[in-house]
Amino acid sequence: MTATDLTAVLALASIALFVFGLKRLSRVRTARSGNALMAAGMLLAILLTLLEMGLVDYRWIIVGLVVGGAIGYVTVARAQATQMPEIVARFNGFGGASSALVALSLFWAVVVETPDDATAAAVLGGASAVTLVLSVLIGAVTLAGSVLAELKLRGTIGGTPRIPARGPMMGLLALASLAFGAVAVFAIEDPVVSSLLIMALVVGSILMSVALVVPIGGADMPVVISLLNSLSGLAAAATGFALGNQLLIIAGTIVGAAGLILTQIMCVAMNRSLVNVLIGGFSGGAPDHGEYGHVISADPESAAMVLEAAQSVIIVPGYGLAAARAQNAAYALAQALQRQGAEVRFAIHPVAGRMPGHMNVVLAEAEVPYELLHEMSEINQDFAETDVVIVVGANDVVNPAARTEPGSPIAGMPILDVGNARRVFVIKRSLSPGYAGIKNPLFEQENTVMLYGDAKEMLDQLANELTANA
Ligand code: TAP
Repeated sequence: MTATDLTAVLALASIALFVFGLKRLSRVRTARSGNALMAAGMLLAILLTLLEMGLVDYRWIIVGLVVGGAIGYVTVARAQATQMPEIVARFNGFGGASSALVALSLFWAVVVETPDDATAAAVLGGASAVTLVLSVLIGAVTLAGSVLAELKLRGTIGGTPRIPARGPMMGLLALASLAFGAVAVFAIEDPVVSSLLIMALVVGSILMSVALVVPIGGADMPVVISLLNSLSGLAAAATGFALGNQLLIIAGTIVGAAGLILTQIMCVAMNRSLVNVLIGGFSGGAPDHGEYGHVISADPESAAMVLEAAQSVIIVPGYGLAAARAQNAAYALAQALQRQGAEVRFAIHPVAGRMPGHMNVVLAEAEVPYELLHEMSEINQDFAETDVVIVVGANDVVNPAARTEPGSPIAGMPILDVGNARRVFVIKRSLSPGYAGIKNPLFEQENTVMLYGDAKEMLDQLANELTANA
């Protein structure tokens, strides 16, 4: 077997690791091993690409791996589960930046470092030159968009500022950026002038990204991040074309497709179109706190008395559980209920929280066994047969207005039918709306009892009451 054959076989192995890893990511139970497989595939891909090209001294490869690995480890080890969307945004940004930097270094190598005056297209060929420009454009958009998305999620950049003529302005910026790039690689032989034009392409791309992301509300950022994730894959694939590297093309395409599918799943689960999200959607409107009529509330002592008699309990976690870091308290309450003989399950709505799988990640952190977690489709019909449902910091995903009010912003969004249970306890701090900013008629139902307070404190109190009375 020649060295080229060996490289091809290893590249195929790396691609297989990506594909099988991605498949395993679609199940909570297998997600960790899927992640490990994909990380191994990525390591193999990085090593192969760098060794095959022979551009970089292997010592630099090791330094890069150690520094990059340390940054990744420290970032994730220090992060809380509620910060996951921000971290995904940051890593997306790194992906886009890498693609743009690789494309820029290719440009540098063929135009600036090569002594004979020739355009990039003359050296690389037309197709590679086009993908080089696309890689810089998409990579820069992904980097700047991801940085802005992270700042929006943190609340550093607030609001949904209106940019006049946003659509035409973005179109103009895209055309101008492409034109700068095309002239730089096809028409200009002078390295200084073509480098300046490439810089103009980068600046234009960043401005386009500002116009795209800044007017979108912080709560819609998970969808934007998923879209940027897809773009980071496209940027990598474009870089792969520019370099003639098949591994990068395939890996980038997989990321691009996965990101796009994820974006689509999120939009469908919220019953919104991507266009609606990108033009600002309902996160731009003022929240409608609504007027509530008769709402019953209780203290933890009386709620615990009802729980003591319950045979079947379903816990419904939402964004508030993650915000309060109440996952351990929720599992402790579940265990206290199990000890008294109740059947306890967790019902997971696909868009509960602020990112796909948010609740699964948070509950996995508390080591809640997977078999207790049930997806909406498999548990929804069981609510009618359930003694008590405990809604913890969830609001929109249990809002019956999605079914009953056709004009509602969440009309058509599938919801968990918690209102069918014999008793519903809702733990939240007030009657404030959730992400969609709308009133929730569930709170007025006569079988609903509000338990006002921070999710963690309330769950701790309920578990203490149950344990004390046992
Ligand atoms: P939300 O509807 O956002 O409601 C969360 C509730 O948690 C709020 O009403 C809030 O009420 C309560 N809360 C906040 N902090 C709390 C604390 N410390 N203790 C107790 N309660 C607390 O959450 P949800 O039901 O999970 O729905 C998610 C929403 O996000 C959906 O509309 C979905 O479309 C949207 N979204 C989701 C995703 C993904 S992929 N998951 C992506 C984008 C958008 P109080 O202030 O009264 O406490």
